[in-house]
Amino acid sequence: MSEAVLDKLDSLLDEAKSKITKAQDEKELEEVRHQILGKKGELTALLRNLGSIPQDKRPAVGKKANEIKLQIEQVLDDRLQKLSQSSLEIRLQNERIDYSLPGESLPSGRLHPISEVLREVKDIFRGMGFEVARGPEIETDYYNFEALNIPPDHPAREMWDSLYLDEKTLLRTHTSPVQIRVMEKRKPPLRVISAGKCYRRDAVDATHCFQFHQVEGFMVDEEVSFADLKGVLSTFARLVFGQDRQVKFVPSYFPFTEPSVEVYIDCFNCAQSSTGKCSLCGGEKWIEVLGAGMIHPFVLRVVDYPAHYSGFAFGVGIERIALLKYGINDIRLFYENDERFLRQF
Ligand code: DAH
Repeated sequence: MSEAVLDKLDSLLDEAKSKITKAQDEKELEEVRHQILGKKGELTALLRNLGSIPQDKRPAVGKKANEIKLQIEQVLDDRLQKLSQSSLEIRLQNERIDYSLPGESLPSGRLHPISEVLREVKDIFRGMGFEVARGPEIETDYYNFEALNIPPDHPAREMWDSLYLDEKTLLRTHTSPVQIRVMEKRKPPLRVISAGKCYRRDAVDATHCFQFHQVEGFMVDEEVSFADLKGVLSTFARLVFGQDRQVKFVPSYFPFTEPSVEVYIDCFNCAQSSTGKCSLCGGEKWIEVLGAGMIHPFVLRVVDYPAHYSGFAFGVGIERIALLKYGINDIRLFYENDERFLRQF
């Protein structure tokens, strides 16, 4: 009886080995393990019958059965390791990345033309020793108007259609308030510019928008004169529009400067226009580029500067510069974000 069991154990081992080697993947191998070692497996069944073997033979048979079980487990484990190794290899092979394939190119972004011009303008003034300051877009009536010599009910307020948030606060209509904010905190000599958004209650058309950008600048020191204003602003105009531009200063009015001027350059488009009437200057031959002037004594007094200080200030519309520079005839194009337009810059 026990002899037969021992033989059976041997042949079970042989069978198991051959089944295990035949298993081609981890799933098949698991089935084999189940067939032999599972609850209803062949070896399990044999061991269950140990009770029918005479008692004196039982230890020898039991020992053998355990050895066989350990051997089968060992063979199963070896095979499992092999199979999982090769399945990993197959996966690595299938998922291999071919680095020589051409890649998908990502479109590269670029600066908006307004940002481009803002940077250029800032760089030009930095080159002339101006530093850059910031001011808030939500401004008080005091900084936006009163401190700039525009009292309540003064007709000059008509120059700026304003968007008020409440009685005393508004979206700034220009960047000029930054002059006051900087001068309040610091003493001359000062050479400062400030760039940013401004807002006005304007109906949108080809040349107006309720939101636009300005660069404000000013210089204050002892003996700053109109000659300094002319020098700085002519240099600026020529760096933006070309070294051979002529620059003209025409008397104008701003409440916060005295005297005030508008700065014009000679039209750089007239030579190209064949019809006689240039589309850029409308045949005027001159193009207005910015407003400026000597800082009004009222403004210097508001910030408590002693009387021996003087200065000039200017305000540049960035959209206007961009329109002129790129020959664009409609300000709305800057805000529509049409890629066909933006890609050209
Ligand atoms: N703040 C003026 C405007 O928005 C522009 C301006 C004109 C600024 C003359 C100045 C200046 O500093 O001196 O219309």
